Amino acid sequence: MNEDHDLKRTDDPCSRVSRRGFLESVGVGMTGIAVASNLSAQDAEELTEDAEPKKLSLVINGRKHMLIVEPRTNLLYVLREKLGMTGTKPGCERGECGACTVLIDDKSRYSCLTLAFEADGHDVTTIEGLVHGEKLGVVQQAFLEKDAFQCGYCTPGQIMAAEGLLRSNHDPSDEEIREGMSGNLCRCGAYQHIFKAVRRAAELKKEEGSA
Ligand code: FES
Ligand code: FES
Repeated sequence: MNEDHDLKRTDDPCSRVSRRGFLESVGVGMTGIAVASNLSAQDAEELTEDAEPKKLSLVINGRKHMLIVEPRTNLLYVLREKLGMTGTKPGCERGECGACTVLIDDKSRYSCLTLAFEADGHDVTTIEGLVHGEKLGVVQQAFLEKDAFQCGYCTPGQIMAAEGLLRSNHDPSDEEIREGMSGNLCRCGAYQHIFKAVRRAAELKKEEGSA
């Protein structure tokens, strides 16, 4: 997949995903939702039933954005289509592949299963937020060093999952890395290199004192 794929994703996902289908998907990823939001499943269902666009304020990569969106809109759509932040990739859009992973309050979450309104009041970090000027973040650097990608489509999601893992666990064991990265699929099968990159990122974070 490449940017051509991105260009095809300009239609509103709400027109293609039924409310029931969306809520069923949310149910599958309920761990992320429950932590990222104060909303109950019932609140979320009421939100998705209300189609009236509403004001929403989101803090993304430390910057506040004021938006008007339909309550049922997911965070993935807002990031890419409303804010032009196309680093976060759409994949399955049902909580299975991890391509859309972002951090919400430092924890990795599937943005396709997160209503944009659920991120209100929380800090959202995307792949764009890991770069410091011209300098790559340490996880990005480690993925480069270890050649941890082939087509690269899953890479932003893999990097965000690794970033989330290392923010909560500075020195993960092999098993913890495997578990922490298990929600992110790579169709190219670059798993061994991805594993090495996460291990290297932990070292780099330690060296630079950010862990
Ligand atoms: S696009 Fe969100 S998990 Fe696949
Ligand atoms: S899907 Fe191609 S590098 Fe992971």
